[in-house]
Amino acid sequence: MDQEADNGIKNNYPPVLQLQGSRLHNARATRLKDHFVAKYKQEPEFFVRVPGRVNLIGEHVDYCGYSVLPMAIQYDIVMAVKPISEPQLQLTNTDSSHSDFQCDINSFSIEVKKGVSPPWYSYFLCGLKGVLEVLQQVSVGMLVAVTGSVPQSSGLSSSSALVSAAALAAAHANNVKMTKLEIASVSAKSERYIGTQGGGMDQAIAFLGTKGCAKHIQFNPLQSEDVKLPDGAVFVIAHSLAVLNKAKTSDFNCRVAECRLASQIMAKKRGLSWEKLCSLADLQSAVRGSLDEMISLVKEFLHEEPYSKEEICCELEVSAGCLDQLSLSNNTTHISQFKLHQRALHVYQEANRVKAFQEVCQKDMETSAALSKLGELMGQSHESLRNLYECSHPNLDKLVLLGKGKALGSRLTGAGWGGCIVALTTKDTVSDYIDTLKEKFYKGNPAAFGRDLDSLVFATEPNTGAEIYEVNQM
Ligand code: GLA
Repeated sequence: MDQEADNGIKNNYPPVLQLQGSRLHNARATRLKDHFVAKYKQEPEFFVRVPGRVNLIGEHVDYCGYSVLPMAIQYDIVMAVKPISEPQLQLTNTDSSHSDFQCDINSFSIEVKKGVSPPWYSYFLCGLKGVLEVLQQVSVGMLVAVTGSVPQSSGLSSSSALVSAAALAAAHANNVKMTKLEIASVSAKSERYIGTQGGGMDQAIAFLGTKGCAKHIQFNPLQSEDVKLPDGAVFVIAHSLAVLNKAKTSDFNCRVAECRLASQIMAKKRGLSWEKLCSLADLQSAVRGSLDEMISLVKEFLHEEPYSKEEICCELEVSAGCLDQLSLSNNTTHISQFKLHQRALHVYQEANRVKAFQEVCQKDMETSAALSKLGELMGQSHESLRNLYECSHPNLDKLVLLGKGKALGSRLTGAGWGGCIVALTTKDTVSDYIDTLKEKFYKGNPAAFGRDLDSLVFATEPNTGAEIYEVNQM
């Protein structure tokens, strides 16, 4: 058995490997080490590597309590780390647009400014804070150099990879052993210090990803199972050339709030106690209905016209101040109109699509029938995200449209409002699909000038989750 497999099977902890002779022992890690040495005049003791992800289906449902189906990708965040005795954190990044940062490792604050993308090191501080809360003692100091290949603000989870890598680095530096599930939960919780109320998908796949299969990830409690994709399926990621940092606007948190409000109003209408009810999945458990029954409830209880804040207060019989406290977050209290019918409908229907996608992968179906069913589900998911959830972008819609007839199906992946699509193709059609997008979308597009098209549209395969690499000598 090879080193990686042996380590992975032995336990449920992120594997600790030897750098020497590993697949991380490459030119990139050497450059990172050189950057570390140039900055700190000493050698790193270990590296952590955490991948980005692409979500195949199940968008904007994790924070509602529903399962998702992502896979880890080949792009990742790598950190070179050395624990030190002084209580200091020093950070440097190989990307010179990310300035160096330092602070006391045990006392720092994470600044959240409205309308501004957080500085890169804030994501590190989130992961560190999560681990400090678990430690319940002071942390050792750390010198850290960071490099990343996950495209930023592109829906491929570069921020969660950074938060999760920081958590893993801090845990390892302090000799704290956390299982993959524990550290994924800590990372998911601590990323919320940046101000966005994401679910746990990105951090879960960052730790649980395995080579060769996608994962069906369920929440409350967090668990995952392998999903073997049909033979010949090839997923392609294509960048829309539009970016959005979800911590910069209130769009993401607004959707979270709309889903929460939808569940609370429906609960109240059903005569259930709604104040502590937080998610559409909680409502489903309380109602004990099927997803189809929940879809009928949405149609019966929630109107399609947007709800004003006053109407919501009236429905729930609370004051605006009380609503702010019970149901809204800092950056959503100013919002005056909420679409509850559309958001809840998307979530319950998307949860159904995740089930259907997983069933197709499990069934012994004829390959081409299986592939076209998966493509169809992906297409429906995109339509729903565009029309009901309103988190698409004209460029994403254009990419989906251009791929029709070339891919079996495609959809926006990640939070949306920009970023990437993921398309399902086959070994036989993948190059034609990629060439078509290059020709019709990227060539001649000013936003793609001077950029390597192979980094904007590329095939991807399910990859391994987070790992720690001990350094002997490089
Ligand atoms: C972001 C969040 C995830 C998930 C997706 C949308 O990536 O971090 O938790 O909500 O958006 O599916």
